[in-house]
Amino acid sequence: MRQTTDFSKMKQSGEKIAMVTAYDFPQAKLAEQAGVDMLLVGDSLGMVVLGYDSTIPVTLQDMIHHTKAVKRGAKDTFIVSDLPFMTYHISKEEALRSAATLMQEGGAHAVKVEGGGDVVNTIKSLTSAGVPVMAHLGLTPQAVGVLGGYKVQGKNAEAANELVSDAIECQEAGAFALVLECIPKQLASLVSSKLEIPTIGIGAGNETDGQVLVYHDLLTFGVDRVPKFVKQYGDINTLTKESIQQYVAEVKNSSFPEEKHSFTMSDSELELLYG
Ligand code: KIV
Ligand code: NA
Repeated sequence: MRQTTDFSKMKQSGEKIAMVTAYDFPQAKLAEQAGVDMLLVGDSLGMVVLGYDSTIPVTLQDMIHHTKAVKRGAKDTFIVSDLPFMTYHISKEEALRSAATLMQEGGAHAVKVEGGGDVVNTIKSLTSAGVPVMAHLGLTPQAVGVLGGYKVQGKNAEAANELVSDAIECQEAGAFALVLECIPKQLASLVSSKLEIPTIGIGAGNETDGQVLVYHDLLTFGVDRVPKFVKQYGDINTLTKESIQQYVAEVKNSSFPEEKHSFTMSDSELELLYG
């Protein structure tokens, strides 16, 4: 299994890091078999699995529940779990306890936190307590209310400069990797060249050290519209709807189940049954 330091080595050698989210046992198993380098139990599960309209309602218990399932499905893959909204801001103690629970109960190898600024101090205390931390800058969905929607970040020079210094601070605080979400590709490229730790992009162009996509977006699985930065590699929606439609039709017209799906009794037992 890969370690945090292996991801830095991948950056140095120019090998891109392929990361995808997973929220349950079969997803984790399939992603591991498909050869991903790292799995993210993202709090995006609030939206794509639980049906909330943001990640705000996701709790630490939700994250533990899903991380455990992912862990059972992908025993040999590095697993990062999101610390959800307001589980790492109130105090240093609470951040440490939240992270410890995700690792000890959930089985995560690392946690991810959103934001620069004050969060940098949290990254510092987590890493000095032995918690590997992935940082996350740019569009940080837990702050959607403050950002005023899911919009591209860092588009002007001032905001871009601030993001660059936040990124450097995250690295200095001990983060082992940095997610860059929904920022101009030029800014993502600049940040990636300035940092020694790998950057993992989502909507951040092609020059980050790795990419991450939401499982359900990548596969068109239960989602209707996807953001511009998503490439849809499969279409589970169509496969699922067509399969279930056919099942319903075959139940209605009695063509399912067939002989091969049925069990039988011997004639002698039947005779005893009917007398
Ligand atoms: O929750 C999530 O899926 C994420 C990725 C989009 C980076 O944080
Ligand atoms: Na997230």
